[in-house]
Amino acid sequence: MEVVRFISSVNPLSAFNILSPVGLIMYSFTSFLVVGSFALQTVFSLPDPSRVKEREAGILKRSVDSFIATEGPIALTDMLCNIGSAGACASGASSGIVVASPDRTNPDYPSGGLSSGGLGEPKFNADTTAFTGSWGRPQRDGPALRATALITYSKWLINNGYTSTASSLVWPIIQNDLSYVTEFWNNTGFDLWEEVDGSSFFTVASQHRALVEGSALATQLGKSCSYCDSQAPQVLCFLQSFWGSSQGYILANINENNGRTGKDANTLLGAIHTFDPTAGCDATTFQPCSDRALANHKVVTDSFRSIYSLNSGIAEGTAVAVGRYPEDSYQGGNPWYLNTLAAAEQLYDALYTWNKQGYITVTSTSLAFFKDFSSSVTVGTYASSTTTYTTLYNAVNTYADGYMNIVATYAQSNGSLSEQFSRSNGTPLSAYDLTWSYASFLTAAARRAGVVPYSWAEPTASSVPATCSSTSAYGTYSTASTGTWPADQTPVSGVPTTTATTTGSATSTTSTSSSTSTSTACTPASTVAVTFNELVTTTYGETIKIAGSVAALGSWAPANAIALSAIDYTSSNPLWFGTVSFAAGTVIQYKYINVATDGAVTWEADPNHTYTVPATCATAVTVNNSWQ
Ligand SMILES: *[C@@H]1O[C@H](CO)[C@@H](O)[C@H](O)[C@H]1NC(C)=O
Ligand SMILES: *[C@@H]1O[C@H](CO)[C@@H](O)[C@H](O)[C@H]1NC(C)=O
Ligand SMILES: *[C@@H]1O[C@H](CO)[C@@H](O)[C@H](O)[C@H]1NC(C)=O
Ligand SMILES: *[C@@H]1O[C@H](CO)[C@@H](O)[C@H](O)[C@H]1NC(C)=O
Repeated sequence: MEVVRFISSVNPLSAFNILSPVGLIMYSFTSFLVVGSFALQTVFSLPDPSRVKEREAGILKRSVDSFIATEGPIALTDMLCNIGSAGACASGASSGIVVASPDRTNPDYPSGGLSSGGLGEPKFNADTTAFTGSWGRPQRDGPALRATALITYSKWLINNGYTSTASSLVWPIIQNDLSYVTEFWNNTGFDLWEEVDGSSFFTVASQHRALVEGSALATQLGKSCSYCDSQAPQVLCFLQSFWGSSQGYILANINENNGRTGKDANTLLGAIHTFDPTAGCDATTFQPCSDRALANHKVVTDSFRSIYSLNSGIAEGTAVAVGRYPEDSYQGGNPWYLNTLAAAEQLYDALYTWNKQGYITVTSTSLAFFKDFSSSVTVGTYASSTTTYTTLYNAVNTYADGYMNIVATYAQSNGSLSEQFSRSNGTPLSAYDLTWSYASFLTAAARRAGVVPYSWAEPTASSVPATCSSTSAYGTYSTASTGTWPADQTPVSGVPTTTATTTGSATSTTSTSSSTSTSTACTPASTVAVTFNELVTTTYGETIKIAGSVAALGSWAPANAIALSAIDYTSSNPLWFGTVSFAAGTVIQYKYINVATDGAVTWEADPNHTYTVPATCATAVTVNNSWQ
């Protein structure tokens, strides 16, 4: 597994949004979760089956709520633990290196590093040296996924006033990866499982997205990417070839001859990685709620029902453990946590869009998927005011929670997630503490809470050319040099938290929002009024001011510092206060100064105060300090 695979599978900004600052709760959460939905029928034994279902759904929802509350901080901690050089689980890894798993024996997975061995190179040693042993290479999803990760970061930089960093330091790196994509998208390469040399749905879908949003970013930075613009429509044209119209599902790999059915969780991952919350249920880009992607969800997940004894007897329309593809035999060919979570995430994405657009459309393509939840449903469009909509929405919500509950049931009791779990008894197997498993949990939980990624401009780029051509374009490559990275330009603090989760029925979701996620309930603040309260005893004639690193605080010049008010000052509560407005997300450093009548300035002692203005819906916040 390569380093960029992890980066792609977690949208870093939105994933962190789900975490409330509750700290690491290490008690066992299995007690909430051992009650599967099957046990409940006998527990309640109510005569009316629909009441039983309702109650089951409520209890399932609460157990998934509990799992998420407990597993969220663990998944974040364990994911960060796999990032060098600070992460204790990535010992020996260089700074910034994301190891796929700390496991070196089962199999050897110490991969990572970005710069040596070519942009399509999938595997590095954790000290950033090239891995030169045999491996499935090249893997052409890497450059596209890396571009998307850095475009996400660039958007944060732009929204927080660091456009010049995005333009001068990050864009040249993105440009290299976009150039790789436009040059090689029409060549075969190895799929995301590093096994099949051909054309992979996940790779091509990721490439299309990267070119579209890469071009949009270029425009935003006052640049252009003409080679992105010439190739993106052709990549989209090629992407249509993956729809098996006679089979009724997405073919995971084409331009190969591996003898498989083509049913593969590759396609679930492709749909969630290219989810655009403004794209509706567009089938040309296989949006999660599109009829093609829903039909595919059923076929792929159903393919694991009969082959894993763990899934034995579970009816269609109820969640099961999901592997990579039914023919898989790698490390025993077991279910994977990240694929089971992807099955949940696609459905949460669909629920988000249905809720937003206010209707569900059932087509002949998606009819079989919906019939699992209502045997009488027919082709048509059902507005949110109809009982059909409510029935389908609530059933799919419960179905999605079922996949989370499978992961809750077979996670280790301390919250650790490995790569696989046994197809017969659910025991965790293969590489332990897999970074991608944790990232998948975090994104699935974020989507469940209604926290979605930014739009990658799908609506502007979904028109399929009438004829597809075999093309390529040679873009710009330049040696990227980051020099000294500017301090405080990463979204470390001030990251918003989710305030509410879905209710488990067809109601809207409520969450706070950052500049990179959208919200259904509140408007992200662009400017925030920050009130500084400073407790400091002064004598008559002295004035307390605040001086700091940004222009609004006088750029550290005492003459331009902001004077605070002593209007509420008393000897028992020696309060000086003042309010200054900043752009949301701004990182500031500051100190208070005491200016005497003769102009003499006394500074507070070190260190400087550091504060990140929150990028949430809040338009006013308070900071409390006392003289240091
Ligand atoms: C190249 O593009 C053409 C046109 O879309 C397609 O038919 C062909 O399969 C593609 N080949 C590869 C290897 O991508
Ligand atoms: C959880 O338990 C497993 C098995 O005992 C162990 O290998 C793993 O390191 C533990 N994880 C953490 C985060 O403590
Ligand atoms: C506080 O900020 C000032 C201005 O940037 C800087 O010169 C000083 O070194 C900082 N103090 C500490 C302790 O970092
Ligand atoms: C700041 O202090 C005031 C008054 O003691 C208190 O009401 C408020 O909650 C404090 N705010 C923060 C962010 O600590």
